[in-house]
Amino acid sequence: MALITQAIKGTQDVLPSQSHKNQFVESTLLEIASEFGFKEIRTPVFEHTELFTRSVGDTTDVVQKEMYTFDDKGGRSITLRPEGTAGAARAFLEHGLQNEPLPQKVSYVTSCYRYEKPQAGRLREFHQFGIECYGSASPAADAEVISLGNELFGFLGIDRIRLEINSIGCPECRKEYQKALKAYFESRKDELCPTCIERLDRNPMRILDCKSPVCHEIGEEAPVILDYLCDECKEHFEKVKAYLEAMNITYEVNPHIVRGLDYYTRTVFEFVTDALGAQSAVCAGGRYDGLIEEIGGPHVPALGFAAGIERILLLLEAQGIALPEAKKPDLYIASIGDNASLKAAELALELRQSGMSAQFDIVGRSVKAQMKYADKIGAKFTTVIGDDDIAAGKVKVKNMENGEAQELMLEGFADAFMDVSLQSAASELQDIASGDSNIDLSKFLGGLI
Ligand code: HAM
Repeated sequence: MALITQAIKGTQDVLPSQSHKNQFVESTLLEIASEFGFKEIRTPVFEHTELFTRSVGDTTDVVQKEMYTFDDKGGRSITLRPEGTAGAARAFLEHGLQNEPLPQKVSYVTSCYRYEKPQAGRLREFHQFGIECYGSASPAADAEVISLGNELFGFLGIDRIRLEINSIGCPECRKEYQKALKAYFESRKDELCPTCIERLDRNPMRILDCKSPVCHEIGEEAPVILDYLCDECKEHFEKVKAYLEAMNITYEVNPHIVRGLDYYTRTVFEFVTDALGAQSAVCAGGRYDGLIEEIGGPHVPALGFAAGIERILLLLEAQGIALPEAKKPDLYIASIGDNASLKAAELALELRQSGMSAQFDIVGRSVKAQMKYADKIGAKFTTVIGDDDIAAGKVKVKNMENGEAQELMLEGFADAFMDVSLQSAASELQDIASGDSNIDLSKFLGGLI
């Protein structure tokens, strides 16, 4: 029985006391992406399994070991998405977005599912913020996409993040490279894990991102693709670097990045940190010029990246970066007696219709207990309403921060309260700006976007 009160291993609940942080991060990322012209796309949580075997690749760890795959009641093989790129590409193609003005730019926040060994920053259900850009083969697009990733960390105030880039070439230059790689791994075949022995013939590059420590170590000394790039791929990579330099983006070339998904071509990159233990990649992506064709469409060069929301939240916490606080009720209306309770309900409605958040007692508690509750939920203002107040047509509204009280007429209450509330917000903002408050102004404003 204990099982039904425990979340499945590798999944986590986001409780009401925390969810504002996820909301802030997710909406901030989507908002920044929209400034770069990316519009949100929403695709289903499950797709035909074949979409992932074809795009992510059937020799990858993701497909071979980590997918949540099952037959539905109609006997179709279905997979919970392990990542967002394949579903977005499928939707792009299905809805003919290649016929819309190019480049098409999409963004998403989605849940993803991978049967991995759970640990800090590695979950079986996790969330990705991602962007995809379809229809440009230019290195300017690579730099633009990378610069967006850079911007996200900058805006959130996260530091100790390094950008590492590499080029893994095109199918043409990879032919020679695969040969060299195969010869190298053949020579150390006895040391490889069983999965990698199978990969040797079909896709030796996949051995380079095997999670087994032994294979990983052997991979460190393997030939690197950068030495095998064809002239066009080399030129593309040089131009990407030139753009990054022109955009003042610091990067390191890491010739060992190959990425764990098969669809990549040319530029690949990772934003990594040493602040999260073993889970160093916070955001990663690259170019995938062959994917749309691979799943049955025309040739549409494309690229993108995804960042793990949980990893970003862990980083924000590890670096002590304060996020805007959860929204607090503007007013709690306590009431004495049945008549006043009806009035409280009426006032709450009036306030909500004017765009403010108001709460009143829906339990039937004593005034003392109502005020205690108002305090616990952090109401900015409170009022206590009784029959006498209704008769007099006015109530006292108390600012819970400084204890000041003000009398407001019940007639036109919402407008009058709005003025009081705005005045208080303005003076709070003034305190922040003058340094009398310890709230960070950029974070305060961040909460308003
Ligand atoms: P990925 O590197 O597999 O790439 O994942 C991107 C990000 O998702 C990682 O950097 C990490 O932050 C987060 N992530 C991955 N697995 C987990 C996990 N088990 N638990 C928590 N977070 C995780 C992709 O998925 C590509 N679709 C990215 C892309 C988009 N490439 C082009 N467009």
